[in-house]
Amino acid sequence: MAKPSATVVTCTAAVVWKSGEPVKVEQIQVDPPKASEVRIKMICASLCHTDILCCNGLPVPLFPRIPGHEGVGTVESVGENVTGLKEGDVVMPLYLGECGVCLNCKSGKTNLCHAYPLNFNGLMPDGTSRMSVGGEKIYHHFSCSTWSEYVVIDSNYVVKVDPRMALPHASFLACGFTTGYGAAWREVDVKKGSTVAVLGLGAVGLGVVEGARVQGAARIIGVDLNDLKREKGEAFGMTEFINPKNSAGKSVSDLLKEATGGLGVDYCFECTGVVPLLDEAIEASKVGLGTVVLIGAGLETSGNIKFIPLLCGRTLKGSIYGGVRPQSDLPTIINKCINKEIQLDELLTHEVSIHEINEAFGMLKQPDCVKVLIKF
Ligand SMILES: NC(=O)c1ccc[n+]([C@@H]2O[C@H](COP(=O)([O-])OP(=O)(O)OC[C@H]3O[C@@H](n4cnc5c(N)ncnc54)[C@H](O)[C@@H]3O)[C@@H](O)[C@H]2O)c1
Ligand SMILES: [Zn+2]
Ligand SMILES: [Zn+2]
Repeated sequence: MAKPSATVVTCTAAVVWKSGEPVKVEQIQVDPPKASEVRIKMICASLCHTDILCCNGLPVPLFPRIPGHEGVGTVESVGENVTGLKEGDVVMPLYLGECGVCLNCKSGKTNLCHAYPLNFNGLMPDGTSRMSVGGEKIYHHFSCSTWSEYVVIDSNYVVKVDPRMALPHASFLACGFTTGYGAAWREVDVKKGSTVAVLGLGAVGLGVVEGARVQGAARIIGVDLNDLKREKGEAFGMTEFINPKNSAGKSVSDLLKEATGGLGVDYCFECTGVVPLLDEAIEASKVGLGTVVLIGAGLETSGNIKFIPLLCGRTLKGSIYGGVRPQSDLPTIINKCINKEIQLDELLTHEVSIHEINEAFGMLKQPDCVKVLIKF
């Protein structure tokens, strides 16, 4: 039941007022949760590359808006129809739900639920917002907006976290790392003994490396323009590293073919969001057998794909959140983290308070940065 005392709270949040402008730290108002919703007091959040796109008005320019789709907190109040969640529970607000009964949920093949979808309209499922600043409505980012001390979210987008889980690590599981890990596990089920290439070794790419290692891949080749990513990749199980900058103008696909006796790789994961690299990923995978997984998203959201290499029997698969179903699959990853089968310490490189949020964007550009944690 909603606490009778659940009223509007005033709290600190990071607001984007206009596309491409610096984020402003504001005092905002957050409504109490409605019947099927919960209000979460955030403990920490983190930055994913996709938040930069949100601040630049992609995929939909809705402002003012609070970015953020990674984070963890405790349930502060619950709506009267919410079951299975109570005050004090440690939870992750997510951008996908899982109803379990729609066509897609029942298929067992995808995490893209029809009832609780990835939401681009900046509003709660009932078409309204729970956040305002000086009386003006603030748009949500996906279903969450985690860069706020308090977050109201439909309870169907919430996953409980075992409190033994390190809280910064839980935040990283809310998007980036899980997306990569799941892409290798749930999305394409990488076969034991296969050869895998990972383009881009941010949190997403490192998640792919870990997922491919756990799946039993024989070779995991990381590709990144940043030499510092070699060590990070190796910490997660990467077996070889290619920096195209050090390779005399050769293309990524040429370099990967060279490394695989001309045949190419079994799986190539695009985790940079750099549009021309999708063609490179297709070219770099095996004719007739290769699978390419598109995960990266950049400021450029379209481009031409060369048809002939794709026609030659390769499979191209897009992936949101690595195909991971929040209720059915995420607990497996959380348990692996608690049991230290998956080690996420290497991801946390920088920390800021919510008041220093703009510095976080600069940190993301530093070569030694993987994840920036935001503390409330
Ligand atoms: N599909 C999804 O569900 C989903 C989820 C999370 C993130 N994403 C997207 O995945 C991508 C990766 O996210 P991230 O948070 O790991 O980003 P990141 O910025 O931390 O990592 C990207 C990495 O790619 C490398 N890189 C950039 N250009 C390159 C190039 N031309 N060649 C080789 N390497 C290059 C960078 O050095 C960096 O290490 C982003 O585009 C993000 O928007 C998608
Ligand atoms: Zn569903
Ligand atoms: Zn993300």
